[in-house]
Amino acid sequence: MRVLVAYATRHGATAGIAEHIAKELTDRGHDARARPVEDIDSLDGCDAVVLGGAAYMFRWLKPAVRFAKKYRDELAARPVWLFSSGPLGTDLVDAEGKDVLETTRPREFDELTELLRPRGEQVFFGAYDPDAEPIGLAERLTRRMPAARDSLPAGDFRDWEAITAWAEEIAATLASAEGSP
Ligand SMILES: Cc1cc2nc3c(=O)[nH]c(=O)nc-3n(C[C@H](O)[C@H](O)[C@H](O)COP(=O)(O)O)c2cc1C
Repeated sequence: MRVLVAYATRHGATAGIAEHIAKELTDRGHDARARPVEDIDSLDGCDAVVLGGAAYMFRWLKPAVRFAKKYRDELAARPVWLFSSGPLGTDLVDAEGKDVLETTRPREFDELTELLRPRGEQVFFGAYDPDAEPIGLAERLTRRMPAARDSLPAGDFRDWEAITAWAEEIAATLASAEGSP
């Protein structure tokens, strides 16, 4: 199947996850491509979509939300999966004992799952480089405050095994849809 892996990224971590998913789908016989949402002007020619975005301040990046809403009808007519790249660090539960992959689910996901009826959704650990060039006003201000800047765990926490496992599930679902009459 022709699969579009569309993503919104600020610093590249989500792009890396999207590229990895596209490669795993390709390795399993699908024609998958990862592309930034900003470069997409039509969903013609794709049979399924995986849409991902980074989470900042509890929210999915706006270009991902805009894309989901702009193409809501086309997306709802295809198999769709959503993912978010978010929490940092290695702790699986927060101070209150809650699963961090659940507490960092972007706020928009309730509305978007209602709208798009995705086949699945997933939150993945992300990456953060405190020395990267800040993007946007909020980040520039945060970087000037060492306490805020250093409050986030620095490093690449992307869980490639989990990402591969999720891509495998998608590949299998698409393959069975292809095989069904
Ligand atoms: C200022 C700032 C705020 C963040 N807020 C959140 C958040 O609310 N929830 C979350 O899960 N991750 C948050 N993160 C972590 C990012 O989502 C993570 O670094 C992500 O992988 C970045 O993806 P990108 O490189 O594609 O932009 C934040 C990171 C920064 C620098």
